[in-house]
Amino acid sequence: MVLHEVTDELRMMFDRARRVAVLTGAGISAESGVPTFRGGGGSEIWTWRGRPVTELSSAELMRTDPKLVWEWFDYRRGLLSELQPNPGHWEPRFEEFTLITQNIDDLHRAAGSLNVLEVHGNVWRARCLRCASTFEARETPLEDVPLCFVCGAAARPDVVLFGEMLPESIFERAEAAAQRADLFFVIGTSAVVYPAAGLPVAAKQAGARIIEVNPEMTDISFLADYTLLGKAGEILPQFLKERG
Ligand code: OAD
Repeated sequence: MVLHEVTDELRMMFDRARRVAVLTGAGISAESGVPTFRGGGGSEIWTWRGRPVTELSSAELMRTDPKLVWEWFDYRRGLLSELQPNPGHWEPRFEEFTLITQNIDDLHRAAGSLNVLEVHGNVWRARCLRCASTFEARETPLEDVPLCFVCGAAARPDVVLFGEMLPESIFERAEAAAQRADLFFVIGTSAVVYPAAGLPVAAKQAGARIIEVNPEMTDISFLADYTLLGKAGEILPQFLKERG
């Protein structure tokens, strides 16, 4: 069912839910000023220096030109450094609540969420290419490729690139939460990048109701019990209206 605002029926479903899981994507940060990767129904893709995101954020480019990969991520860090979370970065209280994000921007944490499953990593962290130590790397603009604090070797952004596996233990926790959920939100994602886009499918198969929040219909809309057509920062606070 396609809706434009949260109805009493939906609010009642929300209030009765016990185990809630949420999958967020770039769209939840759009109202904070973060560019999304895809627009126009998923047909146009963000390009930078003439290359599409899928090439810039790829394991292939990391092998052939790691400096360019850092430049691309540092460019995005520059865009992010002044931004604040928005009302879409909400965290309602439930018996069990799992926040799964594809975003690497850290804005859920900036909004106060402590337990965020970052299935695509975090742009403010680096990972050593030799010893795999991870460490915070907040300097932007970068003067050079960050070096590992432990062994001194070159590091890379601690993010998942196209052509790489997701961090196994984090994704397993996300899948388990999707399968336990009685309500599963899909917010601000075009739901075209797998395996993250498979989480609402797993939730649905395990019996969850699916609520999508997006100003556009997406590849996952057919699966959603409700698609709330609108901006996350305007729609999500409506669920909390009578909860205080
Ligand atoms: P996309 O850019 O593919 O999709 C963003 C979605 O947000 C679109 O469906 C928009 O309609 C929607 N949107 C825009 N403004 C919104 C708003 N105010 N409120 C709610 N929704 C809004 O972003 P993702 O689905 O996150 O992966 O992309 C998935 C992955 O592809 C990313 O994690 C990244 C990317 O390339 C890697 O880099 C590995």
